[in-house]
Amino acid sequence: MKIFADTADVEAIREAHACGFIDGVTTNPQLVADTDQSYEAVVRGIDEFLEGPISVQVTASSEAGMIEQAREFDTWGDDIAIKIPMTKPGLKALDTLSDEGYKTNATVLFSPVQALFAAKNGATFVSPWWGDANDAGFNGFDLVRDVIEIYDSYDFDTEVLVASIRNPRYVAESAKIGADIATIPPFVFDMFWENPMTGAFIDNIMDHWGDRGDPAEGA
Ligand code: E4P
Repeated sequence: MKIFADTADVEAIREAHACGFIDGVTTNPQLVADTDQSYEAVVRGIDEFLEGPISVQVTASSEAGMIEQAREFDTWGDDIAIKIPMTKPGLKALDTLSDEGYKTNATVLFSPVQALFAAKNGATFVSPWWGDANDAGFNGFDLVRDVIEIYDSYDFDTEVLVASIRNPRYVAESAKIGADIATIPPFVFDMFWENPMTGAFIDNIMDHWGDRGDPAEGA
């Protein structure tokens, strides 16, 4: 299973990347708006050190506008996935961009049928939004599981990229049901780094070790 970072905070991505297991990045205009950089500067900053796809989301709402933006975004890095919301113009733009060989990420996706159509139109990735689906009163886990089941039934190459992850449990559940990718925001990475059980047991071990000193120096 691949792990992506879900943020436009270049330093947070660099920090997570230094831990060795980051395979890609997802961004969106909302995340970029929270930085003081242009979208292009953010993407170029990530591209300097990351080997792996960077999802860059269109702001245009028309098919032609999305395609025009995609062509520009693709010049910002070596491995750009054009992130396209699953509207009717979005599905049409996805079809054109897939035919032209662009990497794509079908996003703002809340129904298994949207995922079916996206795969038929050649999407590289589909992003079901688990947490936001839950917030809206739907079942985000069922959404992800249904998409995986449909793709397995028809052998689509499209990869299932679980988005809107709110805690580590979402990552474990995604892995258990065979999702290809989980994209994780910095606040969820913090929950991994600061696992309270791990911290408590390290404290317990070190309390017993006491003042014996450094084992590498013979203690
Ligand atoms: C997807 O790629 C989005 O960036 C993100 O996962 C949306 O999730 P949120 O609305 O929970 O932040």
